Amino acid sequence: MRRFCALLFSQVPQRPLGLHLPMEPWVIVTGGGSGIGRGLVHHFCRDHLVLSCGRRGDKLDETKQECGRPDAVTTVACDLGTPEGRAMLIAALPEGALVRLLVQNAAIGDPAPLAELDVAHFEKALQVNVVAPLALTKAFLPGLLAGSGRILHLGTSVAHQPQRGTATYGVTKAAFHRLYQQLNASWTLRGYATMCRKQGS
Ligand SMILES: NC(=O)c1ccc[n+]([C@@H]2O[C@H](COP(=O)([O-])OP(=O)(O)OC[C@H]3O[C@@H](n4cnc5c(N)ncnc54)[C@H](OP(=O)(O)O)[C@@H]3O)[C@@H](O)[C@H]2O)c1
Repeated sequence: MRRFCALLFSQVPQRPLGLHLPMEPWVIVTGGGSGIGRGLVHHFCRDHLVLSCGRRGDKLDETKQECGRPDAVTTVACDLGTPEGRAMLIAALPEGALVRLLVQNAAIGDPAPLAELDVAHFEKALQVNVVAPLALTKAFLPGLLAGSGRILHLGTSVAHQPQRGTATYGVTKAAFHRLYQQLNASWTLRGYATMCRKQGS
């Protein structure tokens, strides 16, 4: 995990030495209440303000309390699979904030044989894994442009290698990958697609 963060951080524009920006830049990490998202919040809060979210407020509280600089971390308990939840996260970023990095980390997708696939869950996964990243990118674009920011999509090999039982996760993550490609084709902002590892590997 430490190596993953170091590699990622090496690709994020740094503040020029000796130049103090009037405002500390922000890193936004979706899904910071567990796993990779929690690790990224802990890493980036060392020298950035961090905004994160998840549905479970208690897990976000743990992330905040266990990090080295709790005052730098703002968390929002919200469901990114709904317009209301996305609006809560967007409203939590102060007006005029400089965004250095938007990490599209939150994702869902329960495994199931195709015959038993829950279509309602598939629709929810589309909202969380595809609609939310697009909506958040649009909403945070002014801050990203102001902060010379970048966007990171947490991708997965499952998006590119169909296997039994992975339709919901794999199809939505494939669309998420296509969204990353579209962003690169559409804007001068640069995105990074990456394969992920579990913590500790
Ligand atoms: N771990 C791996 O080996 C691996 C491999 C390949 C790719 N990845 C990718 O890396 C990312 C993180 O993986 P992970 O293993 O760390 O997953 P994880 O522990 O399940 O974390 C996902 C986070 O997203 C949040 N989340 C889920 N649905 C949400 C919603 N509707 N609204 C707001 N937040 C939501 C969850 O919090 P709540 O449940 O509280 O909402 C959770 O904190 C994912 O994009 C995954 O596809 C991971």
